[in-house]
Amino acid sequence: MLVLTGIGRDEAEQWTDALAAAAPDLEVVRGPVEDERERVEFALTFVPAAGEMAGYVNLRFVCAGGAGVDGILRDDSLPPALPLLRLVDRVLTARMSEYVVHAVLHHHRRIAHYVAAQARGEWEVREQREGTRVGILGLGALGADAAHKLSVLGFRVAGWSRTKKAIPEIESFTGPDGLRALAAQSDVLVCLLPLTPDTRGIIDSALLAELPEGAYVVNPSRGGLVADDDLLAALSNGRLAGAALDVFNEEPLPAGRPYWSHPNVAVTPHVASRTDARSAAPQLLDNIRRARSGRPLLNRVDRDRGY
Ligand SMILES: NC(=O)c1ccc[n+]([C@@H]2O[C@H](COP(=O)([O-])OP(=O)(O)OC[C@H]3O[C@@H](n4cnc5c(N)ncnc54)[C@H](OP(=O)(O)O)[C@@H]3O)[C@@H](O)[C@H]2O)c1
Repeated sequence: MLVLTGIGRDEAEQWTDALAAAAPDLEVVRGPVEDERERVEFALTFVPAAGEMAGYVNLRFVCAGGAGVDGILRDDSLPPALPLLRLVDRVLTARMSEYVVHAVLHHHRRIAHYVAAQARGEWEVREQREGTRVGILGLGALGADAAHKLSVLGFRVAGWSRTKKAIPEIESFTGPDGLRALAAQSDVLVCLLPLTPDTRGIIDSALLAELPEGAYVVNPSRGGLVADDDLLAALSNGRLAGAALDVFNEEPLPAGRPYWSHPNVAVTPHVASRTDARSAAPQLLDNIRRARSGRPLLNRVDRDRGY
């Protein structure tokens, strides 16, 4: 039995339909399961209730409903040996790159200025930006794809990751010195890091101070990566040209928060890349078959690293 739990009602419906079409014999239930919990073998979830996973004693794996697992790892009672999986999916990756490319072009082509000028009814030409350099924090499944697509568009792209990368056309940085060096050459800073104890609050005043004057920040990863007061200060004192933010420390972003009304901030409601259950279902089903036949599981998360 597979339980869908700790995900939105729409997502649960999409997963139910996709799994029914692809694997009609698989028993799929909505969680949390109260009766016969010992029958639950697999779980798909974003943010399970604390203790829920530990209550399924015959669970063989828990799979995140998307790329990030921070919502699952926040549950301290998650059994240490329980395999944790995540989705690496073609549609998920493509959608994220669309968001990132759009945000970079928004800054590069000064679209915020033209939208504001139109609202005033003014024909006001600004000089075209040239040579916009993009720095991407995180060169994993999502960061590497966005880097490649931006590079194809002609942007000079660099990335920062834990391990050195050899990606054609993409300059690779690592470590604290590498982070500062990357920031210093990033007219647009894109964050595609997972939220872990090491990365929480990484976009703070120290990092923002390294960015070139008038830089732009794009964060579609997790709100916890940003020190909000620091980012708001850099936006308000004019050091930054603006920001595109899809994720927030508190979601939904509460009414009245400064991001909502800041003229240079583009807010979207955590929609940069929503999971397409039809695309991702075969991967989940493959892992179920693997678990049942004792073969290695795909896209397993390193619990010690946190991603
Ligand atoms: N807003 C949305 O709709 C949405 C949708 C999907 C995903 N997301 C977010 O996007 C995140 C990234 O997804 P992904 O699939 O690209 O993850 P991933 O494949 O695990 O890649 C993570 C990258 O971050 C790097 N990294 C992690 N910790 C680091 C550290 N302490 N210092 C330096 N680099 C570090 C990794 O370095 P190495 O390569 O060296 O390991 C890797 O390059 C997810 O965790 C999730 O939070 C958001």
